[in-house]
Amino acid sequence: MSAYDGKAMTVAEAAEQVAQGVAALRRLHGGAFPKTALILGSGLGPLAGQVTEATEISYGDIPGFPVPSVEGHAGRLLLGRLAGTPVACLAGRFHVYEGHPVQAIAIPIRILRALGVERIVLTNAAGGLSPAMTVGTLMVVKDHINFTGRNPLVGPNDESVGPRFFDMTYAYDPALRAMFADAARDSGVAVAEGVYVGVLGPSFETPAEIAMFARWGGDAVGMSTVPECLAAVHCGMKVAALSLITNAGAGLSVDGAPPAPLSHHDVMIQGQKAYDRAEKLLLAFFARLKD
Ligand code: HPA
Repeated sequence: MSAYDGKAMTVAEAAEQVAQGVAALRRLHGGAFPKTALILGSGLGPLAGQVTEATEISYGDIPGFPVPSVEGHAGRLLLGRLAGTPVACLAGRFHVYEGHPVQAIAIPIRILRALGVERIVLTNAAGGLSPAMTVGTLMVVKDHINFTGRNPLVGPNDESVGPRFFDMTYAYDPALRAMFADAARDSGVAVAEGVYVGVLGPSFETPAEIAMFARWGGDAVGMSTVPECLAAVHCGMKVAALSLITNAGAGLSVDGAPPAPLSHHDVMIQGQKAYDRAEKLLLAFFARLKD
């Protein structure tokens, strides 16, 4: 399938891509496969350096893994341990705005599921929508609003992967959210909880969109996480997500100053500033997972 033809993959095509990815990873990694996956979002790339005993595999060597193109997204899978807990760490993610068909976002997740991954931790950089979500806040996602206009499950459904119609009431697993609260206590790193609004991007939002998302009950906005969450819930994984608030949403004034234009550069800078706290929190979370 071409990345840009816009046609839904058939059940057989998707299953074939998953099978090839699974076979490649079994060949490249002899040992047991972790039960937990972690996707590193913008600013969290350096966490890959904390993965110990790592087998490192480039996405280019795994059929079904698209190669990311965004600065700050490396494109390698690290199989090792984080705070002692086995992890499949995806350093580099795929965004729909890069031109990957939204269905393709589901393939790496299904490959991980087929290899035994039971839960996935999604991390991202996001803009703050509510006054509580100041720059530097770490927000555990409790729910999302899908404003991407896409869903990776559109197209023929493979019943052997998951049901056609699937529940999203507990998409962000309550037990994993509670574990983030415990990890916050363990590490002394404060966390908030909130609703993540997923948008397609790549443009940042307009001030009118930001005002609308805030009225809808959104707390943060970003260009990832939602398609991955949908794909993961569909195939039976438990999901947790952590947003690092790198900026106030477009048009929001901070401390009475005129709203600042948004830039990817500023997102990366603020991500770096919050990195140490995010790392501490995630290490405490993984230390609690144990398995
Ligand atoms: N909007 C969308 N995505 C983002 C933002 C934002 O303000 N900040 C970081 N990622």
